[in-house]
Amino acid sequence: MITFDGVTKRFPGGMTAVDDLDLEVPEGQVVVFVGPSGCGKTTTLRMVNRMIEPTDGRISIAGDDIMAVSAPALRRGIGYVIQQIGLFPHRTIGENIATVPQLLGWDGQRTTDRVQELADVVGLPDDVLDRYPHQLSGGQRQRVGVARALAVDPPVMLMDEPFGAVDPIVRSRLQDEFLRLQDDVRKTILFVTHDIDEAIKMGDRIAIFSEGGVLEQYDTPENILAEPANDFVSDFLGSERGLKRLALIPASNVEAEAGPVVSRDDRLDSAAETARRYGTDWVVVLDTDGGVVGWIAADQLAGDGTVADLSPRPFRVLVRADDSLRAALNAMVISHTGVAVRVSDDSRYEGVLTRAALTGELK
Ligand SMILES: Nc1ncnc2c1ncn2[C@@H]1O[C@H](COP(=O)(O)OP(=O)(O)OP(=O)(O)O)[C@@H](O)[C@H]1O
Ligand SMILES: [Mg+2]
Repeated sequence: MITFDGVTKRFPGGMTAVDDLDLEVPEGQVVVFVGPSGCGKTTTLRMVNRMIEPTDGRISIAGDDIMAVSAPALRRGIGYVIQQIGLFPHRTIGENIATVPQLLGWDGQRTTDRVQELADVVGLPDDVLDRYPHQLSGGQRQRVGVARALAVDPPVMLMDEPFGAVDPIVRSRLQDEFLRLQDDVRKTILFVTHDIDEAIKMGDRIAIFSEGGVLEQYDTPENILAEPANDFVSDFLGSERGLKRLALIPASNVEAEAGPVVSRDDRLDSAAETARRYGTDWVVVLDTDGGVVGWIAADQLAGDGTVADLSPRPFRVLVRADDSLRAALNAMVISHTGVAVRVSDDSRYEGVLTRAALTGELK
């Protein structure tokens, strides 16, 4: 959808902000530009809507060179969320969202309807539309920025640190809402951040830049975490690369092992034998429907009687197929058993996940 072909930007004075960039942004995907301050992210974004002209190279959208259309016509098809939001302080929120529809000469009713619709889409309460930007919270202002960019339903969106100015909790909520919204609207989006965790969460693909506008790696988050192209990329990914990778892999990827399973009417000596056979010092207790009751330490499985005579301890966390392997690891480290118990959607026992299985998956 968007193609960069040998794009370079040198500012007067010889400073190279973007260096010979080749990159393809597939239609309907979110591509995240990430990298340290000054590595040319904003410059690259602004070249797409011609607020900055490249020194060299070519950018095309849907196959058309962007220099072949007038800048205003080009910008009509591109929603732009500016770094630091950039709302007009002396216009109401409603007027801010209506900026582009008004430029395009939409009639009053159509504009009002669209503003209302977008306020709903991004989760802004109705009563903010008549207020001014300084009368909103930071998170609300960021939603206005997104609504304004979406106003004429452009196929392409440029978003420059759209959630940069809010606290981590609000930021995480805005990210979730944005991903839900993108599921419906399927825009082609260039999204800038300097936060690698935001990049991993938001991006179908990530482009990692270094100082001087050099593209170091361009790939899916999974592939980048699995195989960083060089030291710059692995440093940028940080020390928890393994954990970040686990967070992207569903628990269904690794095979659950049968595990030492007993039922309540099993005799204690037979339950003890089950633990011995699996080499564990615990057993999992299931009810007659295959639901997980809890676990019992093997040293309690002594004497006459049945498992029903004992009180199993509950697993604090159970893992389902679409939970991440990071969630599975969490379940392992907080359980005395050292394993994660996986259950089906209707809460029936499927087996146990071991640390060795996680390690195997990361190889
Ligand atoms: N108009 C300009 N004239 C000269 N140099 C510029 C101009 N605009 C940007 N630069 C320089 O180009 C480089 C890239 O800037 P850019 O704004 O693209 O960085 P960025 O990656 O968006 O950084 P940040 O994360 O801080 O927003 C920087 O070194 C910057 O100082
Ligand atoms: Mg920037």
